Amino acid sequence: MATPTSIRPPIAPPEWSPAENEAARRMTVVWVATGGVLLAGLALVGLLLRLIQSTGVLSDHWFYALLTLHGAGMVAVTLMALAMTVWALLRNELPLRNSVSVIMYALTLLSGVLVIVATLAGKFGTGWTFLYPLPEHPGPIAGWNTGWTYLYLIAVALLALAFAVWGFEILHAGIKRFGNPGRMFGLDIVTGRTKPGDPNTTNPTIIAAGVMAVEGIATVIPGAVVIILMIISNADPSVKFPALVIKELIYFSGHMLVNFDIYLGAAIAYAVLPVYAKRAWPAAKTLIVAWWVIGVLIILPYWHHLYMDFAQPAGLDIIGQAASYASALPSVVVTIFGAVLIVYRSGIRWSPAPLFIFAGFAGWTIGGTGALIDATPALNEYLHNTLWVPGHFHTYMALGAVMFLLGGVYHATPLLTGRPLSERIGSIGARFILVGGWIVVGTFFTSGALSIPRRYAYVPIPRFADAATVGLAGACIAGVGVVLIAGDLLRVYVPSMRSAPPPTPAPVVAAAEDLGQ
Ligand code: HEM
Repeated sequence: MATPTSIRPPIAPPEWSPAENEAARRMTVVWVATGGVLLAGLALVGLLLRLIQSTGVLSDHWFYALLTLHGAGMVAVTLMALAMTVWALLRNELPLRNSVSVIMYALTLLSGVLVIVATLAGKFGTGWTFLYPLPEHPGPIAGWNTGWTYLYLIAVALLALAFAVWGFEILHAGIKRFGNPGRMFGLDIVTGRTKPGDPNTTNPTIIAAGVMAVEGIATVIPGAVVIILMIISNADPSVKFPALVIKELIYFSGHMLVNFDIYLGAAIAYAVLPVYAKRAWPAAKTLIVAWWVIGVLIILPYWHHLYMDFAQPAGLDIIGQAASYASALPSVVVTIFGAVLIVYRSGIRWSPAPLFIFAGFAGWTIGGTGALIDATPALNEYLHNTLWVPGHFHTYMALGAVMFLLGGVYHATPLLTGRPLSERIGSIGARFILVGGWIVVGTFFTSGALSIPRRYAYVPIPRFADAATVGLAGACIAGVGVVLIAGDLLRVYVPSMRSAPPPTPAPVVAAAEDLGQ
């Protein structure tokens, strides 16, 4: 008797014409080059922030504008850069349209220009979280004209829209390829109708991207509501809204948007590591179920941002704490333990791509542990709004998500441009970034433990300024690595934007497919 698997028609991956491949390749090259330049520039703005906190060299006015530029810029650039790396890795698996990539690029670029203008020209300085009613009541020190607030709010809306468009396209392409969402998300494997690793089934990168796509779309609705409410109250400040409700909406969307970084990083790891370890990473039942659980749990931890808001019902605090702990487990277990098993005794050569991925795992777990400590109400009482918070999120974003991104970029570059990035520069740059980066986050963590508040421009108290000076030294060391790697990226990518395609513009996941994934 025929098995259910055999009666199903085979699901073919997309077939691209050479012209379509070349258009997509060029677009990916443009994304990488733009993302690389912006990330490097924004890291240098971070260095400038530490310089101000160490020496008071620029006014508070500038500090808050630069803080907002750095924070909003980093959140936006890492999110879209990671999302587009996953996109490039999936293009041979899913029929992702290049025209949609062009639309997302335009939305992201416009969003970036608006943030740059609002912060550098308008000195808009609420911090990236733009908590109500600060945007419309800047106060005497910051004192921006509230006209600039519109630019910032529109920029946030455009970014959320760009990510939602990514989400819709991933789902559209996944359902088109597999015929229904069930097969895209691995339901057929969990129910035993198909075996993991069958060439016609889904894979871990598709499942992770699919879950992020659903969540990305889910953030847009509360995000749109809050932007509209804040535009109304900015236009007429006599219209008041409950500050706690606005904070709920901002953190629902904002907390998820920054969390996506790490999960998109995991999606990259699933595609890249097998190529170097020469072992497949199929979508096993546990991995699939873990991602379904992540899809639910990722929504709930944001309440840990509201422990100090006395009007917040205690029940929500409890859910926030429980979900913060619970959400860490499935992703770590299936991804990091899975990665260790994939490379164990595989004879892997530790070139920059797998090295950056493993550096990312370290940032993820240590930054995540810092987050869990802060998500414990008894400790949050002491750590809330101290430099502990930038400590944990820089660890998992700068030393976690950005490392995954670099791993993806080092892996994809020869396939996209026909030229590899220099391994020597990569490994020297990585040393500078990791040593300097861990000093930066180390000073944030120790400052937080010493109750030094975050988002203070300059306080002439020795322990505040001294910690900032050590952090500044770390930032300078990391800055050398950033400049080295950014220079190498430009060396390889700029000519490949102009020149004819490399002789064989190999699809990015080809190597993984050759391994029977
Ligand atoms: C050389 C590397 C970096 C340095 C020196 C640096 C430095 C800083 C400093 C000093 C702050 C302000 C801390 C405070 O007092 O609250 C900050 C905030 C922030 N940084 Fe970085 N940073 C770096 C890289 C990154 C990266 C790679 C990301 C994300 C991928 C990032 C995301 C953020 C965010 C989201 C904020 C919060 C902004 C706000 O409070 O509104 N940073 N950074």
